Amino acid sequence: MTDVAVEDYAALVRDDRVHTSLYRDAAIFEAEMDRIFKNSWVWVAHASEIADRNSYKTSYVGRQPVIVTRDKDGQVHVLLNRCRHRAASICEARKGKSSVFVCPYHGWSYNVDGSLRKVPYAEGYRDDFDKAEFSLVSLRTEDYNGMIFATFREDIQPLAEYLGPARKWIDLFMKQGAGFGVKALGEHRFRFPGNWKIQLENTTDAYHFPIVHKTFLSSLDEETENLMDVLGQGGWVEDLGNGHSVMVMIPDLIDLEDNLHAPIPERFADLAAELAAEGHADDQVRRIVRAVGGSGFNLNLFPNVACSMAFFRVLRPISVEETEIQHIAIGMDGGPEAGNRMRMRLHEHFQGPMGFGTPDDAEGWERVQRGAQAGDDLWIMLNRGVEAPEGRAAPGHNAGDVSAETGMRAAYQMWKRMMAV
Ligand code: FES
Ligand SMILES: [Fe+2]
Repeated sequence: MTDVAVEDYAALVRDDRVHTSLYRDAAIFEAEMDRIFKNSWVWVAHASEIADRNSYKTSYVGRQPVIVTRDKDGQVHVLLNRCRHRAASICEARKGKSSVFVCPYHGWSYNVDGSLRKVPYAEGYRDDFDKAEFSLVSLRTEDYNGMIFATFREDIQPLAEYLGPARKWIDLFMKQGAGFGVKALGEHRFRFPGNWKIQLENTTDAYHFPIVHKTFLSSLDEETENLMDVLGQGGWVEDLGNGHSVMVMIPDLIDLEDNLHAPIPERFADLAAELAAEGHADDQVRRIVRAVGGSGFNLNLFPNVACSMAFFRVLRPISVEETEIQHIAIGMDGGPEAGNRMRMRLHEHFQGPMGFGTPDDAEGWERVQRGAQAGDDLWIMLNRGVEAPEGRAAPGHNAGDVSAETGMRAAYQMWKRMMAV
């Protein structure tokens, strides 16, 4: 027996803990899809994924499939991937280029802005059939510094306002283009048998790092191992409002344009030499090398995306006990190939399917879900660093030690606000 009724959502989130039913209750999951994913800005793409005119990618807003397109004038559209005839999905490819989408079932075709273009054997419809009534459903879409979000709601605040102080951190994150734009280099996806919020928590969880990632740490040279001692560098976590948070692990790497004359780490000496041999000026070499490992922080944007050091981590809830994760490796758009190659190798080393990091994380997430089958009257504790020292954050926002569970508390307070409506 639980000591709270599951429909009383507000009671399931306290200041320092959340109820286990948040991971396990199918009715709560249904309510989340409705109250959170249909009521907030949800990340759908990075601009570089649909850089060209008439390019597109498929994505999701909650469980609803969408197509993100760029039309011939450069404007971005987010369209429900559902034919207006009898609902077939009209695009199954992950990415591509096309000036038209043709539904495979009866051949209705749509322009990339979603308008209905042609209906085969149109004489079978009445004369007053109006194509304008059957455009693909178009979601409200806004972009901040290349991050494209969509929402079902016309009446919620503009994206910039929703992101608030997180915007500054997005700008800092994008500095890893090292003077170039940031570009998606590739992606991989996997699923784990666990609730989506376990994933949301993980991106703002420095506490597990030296424990779970011992294998990763032991695979590094000494200099890098010291750099990755994330609990020992004076980092912190900040609640940025609206469920967003930033976890600063390596304060020296907050602003990648600062401190360009610091010594080049040993592990990047070969890269620096290669770039210099290609004729890049010393300043440019230093800028690329400093940015190559990414930013020293994870920015969690509620509810479904993180700018995590050197990649985007996107979560997609499948069911109460299943989540899809997408890791999008990023690099310099137009920068030297040697730099992007190094970025890919670093990404594989930690995040890749055979990497030393993510597979160990995934074991932890699975175990949380499995363990949560026991003791359904118990609570998930988020009380680490609850008495956070003040001083670093803006008024009204807590800052705590990097291993504080501040970011999780921020996300769950937003969850509570949205679910208790
Ligand atoms: S369902 Fe798409 S044309 Fe019939
Ligand atoms: Fe981890």
